[in-house]
Amino acid sequence: MNIAIDGPGGSGKSVLAKNIARKLGLIYVDTGALYRTVGLNACRREIAMEDKAGIVASLEGITVELRYENGEQHVYLCGEDVSGFIRTPEISMYASAVSSVPEVRAFLDSTQRSLVRRGGVVMDGRDIGTVIMPDADVKIFLFASPEHRAERRTEELLARGEKVTYEEVLSDINKRDRADRERETAPAVPADDAVMLDNSGFMPEDTFAAAIHIINEKTGSDYDDVL
Ligand code: DC
Repeated sequence: MNIAIDGPGGSGKSVLAKNIARKLGLIYVDTGALYRTVGLNACRREIAMEDKAGIVASLEGITVELRYENGEQHVYLCGEDVSGFIRTPEISMYASAVSSVPEVRAFLDSTQRSLVRRGGVVMDGRDIGTVIMPDADVKIFLFASPEHRAERRTEELLARGEKVTYEEVLSDINKRDRADRERETAPAVPADDAVMLDNSGFMPEDTFAAAIHIINEKTGSDYDDVL
């Protein structure tokens, strides 16, 4: 079984996807980490976010790989584990910028598709249900109001020691949503056959329960025992 979870930043995709993976015995693939790693590479090389040709040139000779260590996904840039460097607000903006470049999407395509071919994945991103896994057994588009998402993201970033304010995070979320939705290649829009799940005001366990109901319905299974 393959499950696609798409939706905007801060909607809780990764928490949901991790919970589903753990409880249903699937492999969790966080595709945003791939774009963040290409963004980190561009940032380290001091390429401006608007410099599309520079971003394309920055792909030359680099490798981006996902590896699984003790059940956790790690992302490697040219052999270096950069998982600890890709979650800052600056890299979030870089990730969004590089993800609008078609060459970057093409560059990351084969890594994602080879994981899909192995099967048994729950993948989260923006174009999983539309481009990467159009045949997924279950597609969920998870969203929440920008204010709810900004609240969660602010808490997450503060807990990690980043110095941010709610207003800054909300403004970044709105900017990133617009850019991700309006880009020409693989815009972050729901697949026609995705189930829309609004989790504004939900706790993670509420989102998980709602997702299990969707999975049961779509696949004719009965996973209620994992709730
Ligand atoms: O899910 P995230 O916040 O880690 O994603 C970071 C950026 O990468 C986001 O702004 C959009 C982009 N992205 C994408 O375009 N396609 C994906 N499948 C995953 C992420």
